[in-house]
Amino acid sequence: MKEKFTNIKEESKYYREMEKEFVLHSWCVQNQYNGSVVTGGEGAYFWDMEGNRYLDFSSQAMCNTLGHQHPKVVEAIRKQAEQLCFVQGTWATIPRALLAKKLTEIAPSNLKKTFFTTGGAEANENAIKFARMFTGRQKIITRYRSYHGASAGAMSISGDPRRWAVEPGIPGIVRALDCYCYRCPFGLSYPACNVRCVEHIKELIELEGPDKVCAVEIEPIVGSNGLLVPPDEYLPRLREICSQFGTLLISDEVMTGFGRTGAWFACQHWDVQPDIMILAKGLSAAMLPLGGVMISKEISDYFDDKLLFAGLTYLGHPMSCAAGVAALDVYHEENLIEKSKSLGEYMLGCLKDMEKRHPSIGDVRGKGLFASIELVKNRKTKEPMAPFNGGSPVMTKIGSEAKKRGVIFNIRWNFFIFAPPLVISKKEIDHAMNVLDELLVLADQEVN
Ligand SMILES: Cc1ncc(COP(=O)(O)O)c(C=O)c1O
Repeated sequence: MKEKFTNIKEESKYYREMEKEFVLHSWCVQNQYNGSVVTGGEGAYFWDMEGNRYLDFSSQAMCNTLGHQHPKVVEAIRKQAEQLCFVQGTWATIPRALLAKKLTEIAPSNLKKTFFTTGGAEANENAIKFARMFTGRQKIITRYRSYHGASAGAMSISGDPRRWAVEPGIPGIVRALDCYCYRCPFGLSYPACNVRCVEHIKELIELEGPDKVCAVEIEPIVGSNGLLVPPDEYLPRLREICSQFGTLLISDEVMTGFGRTGAWFACQHWDVQPDIMILAKGLSAAMLPLGGVMISKEISDYFDDKLLFAGLTYLGHPMSCAAGVAALDVYHEENLIEKSKSLGEYMLGCLKDMEKRHPSIGDVRGKGLFASIELVKNRKTKEPMAPFNGGSPVMTKIGSEAKKRGVIFNIRWNFFIFAPPLVISKKEIDHAMNVLDELLVLADQEVN
């Protein structure tokens, strides 16, 4: 029976309360969950049932690269649904074959085959297995400021404090200090440091036993742990170090892939070829769940005559792959990789301008439509506006005031991640930047 409501607010409240009562929500104390009921979206905007309209300046979870409801992807999903919703992975399908081939046309040229999953964490789970099977080694080096997903293995290879609750996690994980120039863990400054942080990884491989370390996994530009862009030497040198020890280099491009940073994949900014690349989010522009593990020809050859101990009911789901094929077409047709580069430079310019006016901005960094500002109470001491793994009233206030003004910013601890859909216009960027500019006055008042 259909419920009767006297007004839209009542109806919205009904569904909000139903969510609260029957759904477990991620990364929150359940009593504090307070999501609005989202009913639609278009381009860089989405809206809720009560008529509030928001400019989505974080592409939801940095995944809606094509904005909301891109008509070409919607149409591809509709067509695939009419033709064939599902067959299991043992059968071949047209969208999966096409998508895997198309990926080799944009990925680093050494990458050959893709194992499709339903998201990033699952892709990492399988990458861990492939790396261990291929090398016969067990240990994996990752970094503290990293996030690779919330399942057991993916959480274990993450350094993000979200892992604390589920530790000790899977064995064999060794964490390295980060490449974080603004707060160098070695107390050095670039370029005089000679990129000490990457040599530290070499030292770790030596200390852990070169024939024991199967892989080093990194986000080429760290996402949710601070949006850290490495200096130009970092990734090429890491590639050299990994090759020297026969250790695989795994590039997790879940957040940085598909044009987010102004290149198809972030590792391509430095011409680095990883042995394994992890995909999700932008792969289907988040319009259906999809992830993938791309492996090099060498690893692929290895499995030619050996059993691949891996499987998923939804491996390369036809609907998701059809969305992926359409999404790739749209990136090409709308020139979105190039657009991310040029609009990203513009956005970074706006942020650098704000840095001159707002003493609360300690650092500005970014590449493509992927940028961050880090807020501090004092530029000299670099005391963060909110502590590591914590919040502060002013950071919360800026987020909620921006929402009231119709702009959604991703804010974590003392930094923002600006990652709008690649289809955003310059005018929409200007609008978000103006709202930010106005609200940073609140943070400036906290500066001492
Ligand atoms: C770099 C990176 N890897 C992996 C993941 C996990 O992806 P998923 O949430 O699809 O499992 C994320 C999610 O934000 C991510 O940012």
